[in-house]
Amino acid sequence: MTERRSWAEPWKIKMVEPITMTTREHRAAANLAAGFNTFLLASDDVYIDLLTDSGTSAMSENQWAGLMLGDEAYAGSRSFYHLVDAVAEVYGYEELVPTHQGRGAEHILSQILISEGDIIPGNMYFTTTKFHQEYAGGRFVDVIIDEAHDPASTHPFKGNVDLDKLAAVVDEFGAERIPYISVETNVNMAGGQPVSMANLAATYEYCHRHDILVMLDATRAVENAYFIQQREPGYAGKSIAEILPEICSYTDGATMSSKKDNLVNIGGFLALRDPELARKARALLVAFEGLHTYGGMAGRDMEALARGMREMVATDDHIRARIGQVHYLGRLINEAGIATVQPIGGHAVFIDAAAALPDMPRDHFPAQALTAAIYVDSGVRAMERGIVSAGRNPETGDHNRPKLELVRLTIPRRVYTQAHMDVVAESVAAVYEQRGQIKGLRFTYEPPELRFFQARFEEID
Ligand code: F0G
Repeated sequence: MTERRSWAEPWKIKMVEPITMTTREHRAAANLAAGFNTFLLASDDVYIDLLTDSGTSAMSENQWAGLMLGDEAYAGSRSFYHLVDAVAEVYGYEELVPTHQGRGAEHILSQILISEGDIIPGNMYFTTTKFHQEYAGGRFVDVIIDEAHDPASTHPFKGNVDLDKLAAVVDEFGAERIPYISVETNVNMAGGQPVSMANLAATYEYCHRHDILVMLDATRAVENAYFIQQREPGYAGKSIAEILPEICSYTDGATMSSKKDNLVNIGGFLALRDPELARKARALLVAFEGLHTYGGMAGRDMEALARGMREMVATDDHIRARIGQVHYLGRLINEAGIATVQPIGGHAVFIDAAAALPDMPRDHFPAQALTAAIYVDSGVRAMERGIVSAGRNPETGDHNRPKLELVRLTIPRRVYTQAHMDVVAESVAAVYEQRGQIKGLRFTYEPPELRFFQARFEEID
């Protein structure tokens, strides 16, 4: 018999939060009232909430204790200096600009670096990141490797930058029109797929030869570090705490949504190396977020964040269990014969809705329809990541048409048990069996910006 060593969690549960069990009838009515958009559901109507891993983590006893010790001074809060020290030690960045969450950092970064008509290459887009680049007058150009757009490809580093694509962008527009490249670790929209250390190093080297800055979206860099440790030659013997600052060493700064890796419910930051750039960022910060020693956070939030950041790399057991749970769910869903993005990523299982509903036209939003059907079946709340999330092309007015049409089952950190994952997999399998009954959708309300958050739909008969 081969020895089995499971990924079980390195913590036990001290406090529980009851959740509502609902009937199918209740959920069908809630779905209609929400216009087939899971963002518009009340959480009281949700049983297992896999909408996002953002701000949904359970904090540790040490983080909760930190909340009581937060220094709420308007200027020079002790908790801010704890955060500065934690970012310097854990990520290796010296200049810290605190923000209320990731998009606050994206806003400030875009405003200080992008001029009208600039081009921002990136390894696939993220919704708010691209929004802020365009809002500042820039244009995003995708330079991720082709494998990232193929859900079935098992490439171990599907988040990699395609250096030939990047060079073509530089040739076409000129390096002077490209203030920075936006490199995301564990690329969310590609399915939580990592970038290799070799690719980060090569991208940095190329960009520095052309005077282009490299800005990291470090939101899920710890999950990326785990995949480097597991998959990249030379890293098996290194700890996550060692790999993480090495990732950051190939960048000039980072935007961070601390609501993910950092194990807090709110917070984020912009980190930089260049003190002059940091000065510009702080000048805008005071107008849009808050004073430079709290940005958008309360003192207690910064205290919990500093502690969460150290906890996420204190041992490798945390990240092993976190990704172990995601992979456990992915395996159950794949074993039920349902296609997902391969390999299973770091924060979520992404069901290939285009494969599940091959006869439904993309303009009828198969991933949106499948997400609603899963909710009605079991109260499991997922999210669409496909044509609805991609929005419209501002020039032509037509839908952007990403190759990936996905339903994201996103796992909060330290919140749900293995039994919850079993319930999710059983519901997804049951809906898949009955998928012939799922109808396409059309908009009844389409917001002009970031439409997926507030759009409403009805069924097409
Ligand atoms: N970058 C990435 C890669 C993200 O996944 C997110 C948020 C942000 C930036 C923005 O950060 O939410 O703190 O303002 N992603 C969440 C999600 C919303 O559900 O994937 P934020």
